[in-house]
Amino acid sequence: MAIVSSKISKADSPTPKGRERLVHAEPIEQERTLSREDSLRPSCFEDYIGQTELKQVLKISVTAALGRGEALDHVLLYGPPGLGKTTMALVLAKELGVKARLTSAPALERPRDIVGLLMNLQPRELLFVDEIHRLPKVAEELLYPAMEDRRLDLNVGKGNTARTRSVDLPPFTLVGATTRAGALSSPLRDRFGLSQRLEFYRLKDLQAIVERAACLLKLSLTNDACLEIARRCRSTPRIANRLLKRVRDVATVRGGMNVIDAQLVDEALELHRVDRKGLDASDRRLLEFLLKVHGGGPVGLDTIAAALGEDSATLESVVEPFLMQVGFLNRTPRGRVVTEAGRIHLGRLDKK
Ligand code: ADE
Repeated sequence: MAIVSSKISKADSPTPKGRERLVHAEPIEQERTLSREDSLRPSCFEDYIGQTELKQVLKISVTAALGRGEALDHVLLYGPPGLGKTTMALVLAKELGVKARLTSAPALERPRDIVGLLMNLQPRELLFVDEIHRLPKVAEELLYPAMEDRRLDLNVGKGNTARTRSVDLPPFTLVGATTRAGALSSPLRDRFGLSQRLEFYRLKDLQAIVERAACLLKLSLTNDACLEIARRCRSTPRIANRLLKRVRDVATVRGGMNVIDAQLVDEALELHRVDRKGLDASDRRLLEFLLKVHGGGPVGLDTIAAALGEDSATLESVVEPFLMQVGFLNRTPRGRVVTEAGRIHLGRLDKK
């Protein structure tokens, strides 16, 4: 039994207010509580483009859970940022016909934060914890029996009167999201019945995502314009939607543009220093540092992070996955190395 230091008294009752977003699965309620960026999110499996295998696996589990009248098993979603982990959690809630409670691990600082969330859950509801690798140890230990046995073990009283009180919880689904699955402790990882990686999106799926977003924003884009945004969005829908909005800004300022074409996309994205492969200034800075200062590598991650003034975990989980995916960077046992394709892209092949 986990021994935890959370205490519940009347004066100190769990108050998740402000630390949690409560989202109803029905679209009308969602619009009321979600931000503007969220209005482009798909809300059901049918509208969710790409991630075919993930959807297939989750659809089966959702259908089975609904058929048995049970809560969906706990789900861990991992992968680089912007690929749709939060969106998928909302889709799951919608498909299950339950409310989603959204929070993020850094907001669960005190034991009573997670206690409050768990105690307020209604049967079969979905609790989404973003950045779950950052969960404080006490919160993590409270989650173990909650996930496994639907039981909350609370320490009540002080000194001689201290004892553990167990509270039964309703069946619920924890959806954890992380960019760093490797940073999760194995006891926590093992308690997820489903553990799924989100992959970078294929070009044709990204093009469809841009078309869908353009339609929702009431914009008219040529197929080539959608394709150009798809090519330059780092295989990431969140970035595709962001680039689309920057293109819209340029079109608005120019005025008189009924249809946005590839040339306008190119001009707008040049302005934002997003190159033809989707690399931004920080990607190029990393590659340039390796090439200019170290002849292309190998260089250790910590050296790169110190030189660029970046956090090494961010470089590792946010910047590098895309550079590796486009084949511009390799991780080797001796450090990071720029590939030949990376050198060609930066026009520095001659320096080898
Ligand atoms: N917008 C962002 N991600 C999306 C996805 N996977 N499908 C459809 N629209 C999206």
